[in-house]
Amino acid sequence: MTQAAPPLLTLSDISLSFKGVSAITDIGFEVEQGEICALIGPNGAGKSSLLNVINGVYRPQRGTVHFDGQAYRHMDPYRAAHRGIARTFQNLALFRRMSVIDNVLTGRNLHRRSTWIEQTLHVGRARRDEASQRQHACRVIEALDLARYRDTVVGTLSYGLQKRVELARALAAEPKLLLLDEPMAGMNAEEKHAMAGYVLDVNAHFGVTVVLIEHDIGVVMGVSDHVVVLDYGKKIADGKPDEVRTNPDVLAAYLGTRH
Ligand SMILES: Nc1ncnc2c1ncn2[C@@H]1O[C@H](COP(=O)(O)OP(=O)(O)O)[C@@H](O)[C@H]1O
Ligand SMILES: [Mg+2]
Repeated sequence: MTQAAPPLLTLSDISLSFKGVSAITDIGFEVEQGEICALIGPNGAGKSSLLNVINGVYRPQRGTVHFDGQAYRHMDPYRAAHRGIARTFQNLALFRRMSVIDNVLTGRNLHRRSTWIEQTLHVGRARRDEASQRQHACRVIEALDLARYRDTVVGTLSYGLQKRVELARALAAEPKLLLLDEPMAGMNAEEKHAMAGYVLDVNAHFGVTVVLIEHDIGVVMGVSDHVVVLDYGKKIADGKPDEVRTNPDVLAAYLGTRH
């Protein structure tokens, strides 16, 4: 019998507070290799903070993160990126005056082989390196149907397209784990549907494990293999979309039937 692969990510007993005010309390869950895990819950539930714990922006007071065979309580975001964790942010964080390709290329910085001085002088290895980074960035751009906007200045694109460029930039880093903080927020129904499709594609074709935060329950149920529900910094449910949807605690948190 073959052994199941260990989870790519395991959070154990994570607690985080800001100046004594608790944001996350004793949260633990696992994310399997290759799955799409949705993190849902009302505003202020601690979802973004949890992503920040995973990629090393916040240092929790308690608990451990296991990622890809290594345990840590805190690693800096730079090392997290090197170990294969990429993320997008709740608010757009692109270089607005730069083209789509140049934005996506910034996602390739980890993979550059030439030194800074070689890049500045644009000699030998740097030139070959640049060509191969560009090739890879173009493949990602094509995969996300952004080819016609490749040389367009990002700030002139619609909001929905800019969110897709952010996804492309994160993906360009070739991460094992992609953390998406509300990738569909502020989108209309059509844009949401398209973005959900791209998240599914990225997961299927690039084999990237995804943890995404999303408010729209309909979208969550459609894309995720696994749902974790947070409320006031605590985990209130964890399971398959269908199990979670009918969980009374989840209904209470969402519909306010508890108080
Ligand atoms: N850097 C910070 N400093 C102080 N409080 C913070 C900080 N980041 C988050 N919080 C607090 O932690 C709680 C959870 O926030 P957040 O993780 O952004 O929730 P969500 O993403 O679920 O809306 C909130 O009460 C928020 O005010
Ligand atoms: Mg948030």
